Amino acid sequence: MRGCGVRFDKHSKSIVTRHDLGRFEGETLFDRVARVVASAECLPRKELYESWEVARRVRRRMRGHRVVELAAGHGLVAWLLLLLDDTSSAAIVVDTKSPPSASTLADAITTEWPRLAGRVERRTEPLDAPSLDANDLVVSVHACGALTDVVLRRAIASRARVAVLPCCHDESTCDTGALTGFLSIPLAIDATRVLHLRSAGYDVHTQTIPEQITPHNRLILGTPRLV
Ligand SMILES: C[S@@+](CC[C@H](N)C(=O)[O-])C[C@H]1O[C@@H](n2cnc3c(N)ncnc32)[C@H](O)[C@@H]1O
Repeated sequence: MRGCGVRFDKHSKSIVTRHDLGRFEGETLFDRVARVVASAECLPRKELYESWEVARRVRRRMRGHRVVELAAGHGLVAWLLLLLDDTSSAAIVVDTKSPPSASTLADAITTEWPRLAGRVERRTEPLDAPSLDANDLVVSVHACGALTDVVLRRAIASRARVAVLPCCHDESTCDTGALTGFLSIPLAIDATRVLHLRSAGYDVHTQTIPEQITPHNRLILGTPRLV
């Protein structure tokens, strides 16, 4: 394996390149995805690991549904959610900006998995633009600060399933739920988000992805309770 002796931080923002191919020689789906990403040479290492860890945890609890990835960046989570569960027929990937390499990534993925071609639609628009419904699975990784709350509000309004990995917790724009007397600000904000989802009639599961990938590693998964 090439480069084995060199430190390889999963949280690095360095682009995954062909030089890294030797690290992904296995037969797992992650190895296959990582080889495609490395060959495309367009994605930060952190984004590869983060997206994978989120997608596989989401799919353990949430199958099917149209995937709607909000504040999506490259939209790798949406691609992975389709890859991990073919019963989701389509995804939309929404961001106000489209990274120049988003199409490079899409081409690389659909070359490797032609069955995914035409199933992920990219929309360059704000995350409050797409219409949502109860058949959607809404996901958002690192929608900064209060943007995560917009994602949650939109999902709740349409009774959609939702999964968020929040970041950039901001006391001035997010609700700390009066919990900062004994919780850190980020934890207070995320705990309040969980309570809000529950009081909106959602069953909630909380998890973390490995801290070595990101310190903003709390995953909140919400499924509307049947009434
Ligand atoms: C920290 S990045 C996360 C990107 C990606 N989800 C990831 O984890 O790599 C936040 C993203 O939110 C997008 N964004 C900011 N405001 C937005 C809005 N109002 N509607 C949609 N996307 C927005 C930015 O363009 C950026 O791509």
